[in-house]
Amino acid sequence: MQQNVFISGTDHGLGASLAEAWADRGARVFAGVLRLPPGDRPEPRAEGGTIRRVVLDLSSDDQVAQAAAIVRQSVGHLDLVVNNGAILGDITRTAFEPLDFNEMARVYNINVLGTLRLTQALLPLLLAGPTKLLVNISSEAGSISSCNRQSWYAYAMSKAALNMQSALLHNLIRDKGGRVLILHPGHVRTFMQGAEDVAAVLTPDEAARLVLANIDRSGAAAGDRPLFLDPQGRVLSW
Ligand SMILES: NC(=O)c1ccc[n+]([C@@H]2O[C@H](COP(=O)([O-])OP(=O)(O)OC[C@H]3O[C@@H](n4cnc5c(N)ncnc54)[C@H](OP(=O)(O)O)[C@@H]3O)[C@@H](O)[C@H]2O)c1
Repeated sequence: MQQNVFISGTDHGLGASLAEAWADRGARVFAGVLRLPPGDRPEPRAEGGTIRRVVLDLSSDDQVAQAAAIVRQSVGHLDLVVNNGAILGDITRTAFEPLDFNEMARVYNINVLGTLRLTQALLPLLLAGPTKLLVNISSEAGSISSCNRQSWYAYAMSKAALNMQSALLHNLIRDKGGRVLILHPGHVRTFMQGAEDVAAVLTPDEAARLVLANIDRSGAAAGDRPLFLDPQGRVLSW
């Protein structure tokens, strides 16, 4: 049966590649974008897949509600929600330098609260479907036990909080047949740092393929905790 998938942050980078990859598999993809491209219309793909872009700024209650309403009007359920949209914030300053707390609050509002906003709005549709899989794109930077950085305050703390959010949601939906998967996509050559990260080892398309492979491999069983996996499917420490 055709899968219905919602992905946030698909303007660029990994999110754009994830939308393409799922549509090429025949899924009906709702792709959250900050800005609709001019003349945008649903894009049909091989195997009956489509990409329908919906305006979605994760920091906006209204836009999250409108995006969920569009999905509700179009389909009776979602199989998969992929929380991918995020921003980085400053990664250089340590606590010995002035820190931009307003920027940190913005990072938290998008990466953590925005993700929860969207998940909450889409949860009834996700639980109405047969798959009930919530995928949170996190980062190794959110692992507290393996942390060796001295900066990256906004981003690293936001991803640690996203991991906690994932655990809370996993506990909530597990007995309803749902589960949460937390994925670190690897070091991906995107523009998240403001310029192309040429040191990165994976292209967005390669990282998207690994995300899909991880989801395929993860099976349907929900353990006590969400799986927190690296791109090769190895378990990361919390
Ligand atoms: N790149 C890496 O090495 C790496 C490593 C670990 C984890 N990740 C994670 O992978 C995911 C994708 O990152 P990426 O590397 O592909 O970076 P990216 O290209 O910057 O993608 C992030 C996406 O989120 C969008 N976005 C920004 N602000 C938003 C908002 N307020 N509401 C909704 N969407 C918003 C961006 O739009 P604009 O581009 O228009 O701003 C972009 O489409 C993120 O969750 C990131 O934390 C990436």
